[in-house]
Amino acid sequence: MSNAGIPMVRLNNGVDIPQVGLGVWQANEGAEVEGAVRAALEVGYRLIDTAAIYGNEVGVGKAIKASGVPREEIFVTTKLWNAHHAYDAALRAFDESLRKLDCGYIDLYLIHWPLPMEGKFTQAWQALEELYANKQVRAIGVSNFKPHHLAELLNRATTVPAVNQIELHPLFQQRETRAYCAEHAIAVESYSPLMQGGEALEHPVITQLAEQYGKTPAQVILRWHVQSGLIVIPKSVNPHRIQENIALFDFELAPDDMQQIAGMDREQRISADPDTANFK
Ligand SMILES: NC(=O)c1ccc[n+]([C@@H]2O[C@H](COP(=O)([O-])OP(=O)(O)OC[C@H]3O[C@@H](n4cnc5c(N)ncnc54)[C@H](OP(=O)(O)O)[C@@H]3O)[C@@H](O)[C@H]2O)c1
Repeated sequence: MSNAGIPMVRLNNGVDIPQVGLGVWQANEGAEVEGAVRAALEVGYRLIDTAAIYGNEVGVGKAIKASGVPREEIFVTTKLWNAHHAYDAALRAFDESLRKLDCGYIDLYLIHWPLPMEGKFTQAWQALEELYANKQVRAIGVSNFKPHHLAELLNRATTVPAVNQIELHPLFQQRETRAYCAEHAIAVESYSPLMQGGEALEHPVITQLAEQYGKTPAQVILRWHVQSGLIVIPKSVNPHRIQENIALFDFELAPDDMQQIAGMDREQRISADPDTANFK
C-alpha cells in the first residue's frame, strides 16, 4: 500500500509500482498537463505515465516538483520513441527525457513499440539494460509487445522486462499476452483501460453493474482491471474524473460479475497492431 492508500504491485526486480496511475497521453504540454498531474497527486495518485512522444515531459516534471510530494513517493514512467531504437540513439533519448522531466531519476523506462519491421528492438533493449545496470532507472520494460516479440527479446536479454504495457480493456482482454507475461513474471499494465472513453463505458453489462454497485461505468471497468491483477493508467485532464478514477477501493465486484465482464471480450483492438505499426 502506498502512503496514499493505493495498492502496490511488486515487479520482478523487487521494485514496487502503484497499481493505479494517471496516463497523460493527449494532455497538452503546459497548463493542461500540469493541472492534471497536480490534481492527481492531490487526490492520492503516485504513478504518472508519460512518454517522449507525448511532448509533455517538462510539464509532468514541473507539476511533480510543485506538488510538495516527496519525489521518492512518486513513480514516473516514460518511454523510448520509435525513431531511437539504435543503441546510441536510445541512450541519448533517455538523457533527453531525464533532462525534460528534471526529476532526478526515472522509475520505469519502456520501449514504446517493437517495430518488428526495423528489427532493432533488441539493440534498444541493450541500451535499456545498460541504463538499468548503471542505476539510471529503477526498472525497464516494454510496451505493445506480443508474445513473439517478447520471445525474441528474451532470447538475447540478460534482464527480463519488468512490465509490458499493452492496450487492454473489457472488449480486448489480451488473454494470450497476459498468459505469456504471467509465465515470465512480467507485470501487465493496461493502457486505454477505458477504451479511450468509448463503447465499453456504454456496454449494457457495464452500465447495469454500475447501477447495481452505485458506481460509475468507469469505476466498474477500472475495478475489474484492479481485481484482475493488472496495473492501470486511466487518462483524464478533468479533476472530477481524475478523482473518480482512483476511488476504486471501497467496493468489490463479485466473482459472477467479474465473469460477466470476462464474457465481454471481442478481441477488439482500437490502437495500431504492433506487428505493423511503424510510425516515427
Ligand atoms: N504505450 C502505448 O502505446 C500507449 C497507448 C495509448 C495510451 N497509453 C497510456 O495509457 C493512458 C490511458 O490510455 P488512453 O488515454 O488511450 O485512454 P483511456 O484512459 O482509456 O481513456 C481516456 C479518455 O476517457 C475519458 N475519461 C477519463 N475518465 C473518464 C471517466 N471517469 N468517465 C468518462 N470518460 C472518462 C478522457 O477524457 P477527459 O480527459 O476529458 O476526462 C479521455 O478522453 C494514456 O494516457 C497513456 O499514458 C499508452
